[in-house]
Amino acid sequence: MKKKLLITGAAGKVGWSIARKLRETGRYDIVATDLEEDAERDIASLDVTNAEDVRRLAEGVDTILHIGWAEDDEDFLGKVLPVNVTGAYHIYEAARENGVRRVVFASSNHATGFYRAGENVEPEDPYRPDSFYGLSKCYIELLGRLYADKHGISSFNVRIGNYPGNRPPASRRALKIWISERDLASLFACCVEADPKIDFLSLYGTSANSDNYYDIAYLKDLIGYEPQDDAAELQAEAERLYGGLKDDEQPLQGGGFTNR
Ligand SMILES: NC(=O)c1ccc[n+]([C@@H]2O[C@H](COP(=O)([O-])OP(=O)(O)OC[C@H]3O[C@@H](n4cnc5c(N)ncnc54)[C@H](O)[C@@H]3O)[C@@H](O)[C@H]2O)c1
Repeated sequence: MKKKLLITGAAGKVGWSIARKLRETGRYDIVATDLEEDAERDIASLDVTNAEDVRRLAEGVDTILHIGWAEDDEDFLGKVLPVNVTGAYHIYEAARENGVRRVVFASSNHATGFYRAGENVEPEDPYRPDSFYGLSKCYIELLGRLYADKHGISSFNVRIGNYPGNRPPASRRALKIWISERDLASLFACCVEADPKIDFLSLYGTSANSDNYYDIAYLKDLIGYEPQDDAAELQAEAERLYGGLKDDEQPLQGGGFTNR
């Protein structure tokens, strides 16, 4: 039987790319959701702040890909806490109540943005969030740790680097942490398919960029992730398209998030 996946935020950049590419594989029964229903793209309505709706849609689900996110990432009291943190809590509670096997959360490189550029950071290193946005990703990763330890829900946190959709990376920093559409979809599929015995995993999600901030080679053996793309191959095209690349490199990995 096909695994049933519930995807939140499926109308957004990351969510739609994953929903569309995973549907193309024909391997999964996919329930794609976002705030607004979209019949054309077969997206159902689900606001993750509505506990009852989240619980209903999680019935019979094998894995939840939790990608939905309110945009204003520094509005702590207005968005970060009531939408993103509360929404993640509802997702994990619904997973517990429905016996969902795994939750894969769209985390972010900004959970560790205060490490210096050039410093090798492993996912197990201490959190160094660079913003309320990054801080809430740390909290939600730990929420996953709690539900893994206490309730046996396997929890994966993909710290996505930079995903600009179907455009090349637009800045020098983005070149180092970029992920292509096919690598993004393949990485989330690897997280769904990874050994059921892995109860908790945080990882950095990038393509095989020549000049990557992160060493992700070990993911091949661990979860079968073999990225196909390299941002360096798109640099010339990006420079043409944008009339040069934004020079946003800073001493710290989180770039502009560290000082805004
Ligand atoms: N795009 C990137 O470069 C990047 C990098 C790191 C992490 N991420 C993470 O990936 C996720 C998706 O990012 P994106 O770039 O696709 O953003 P996006 O804004 O394009 O998509 C987010 C989607 O979430 C939906 N949403 C908002 N509030 C919601 C709610 N209450 N309930 C359900 N859905 C809701 C929005 O309608 C939108 O379609 C986010 O969690 C983000 O932090 C993205």
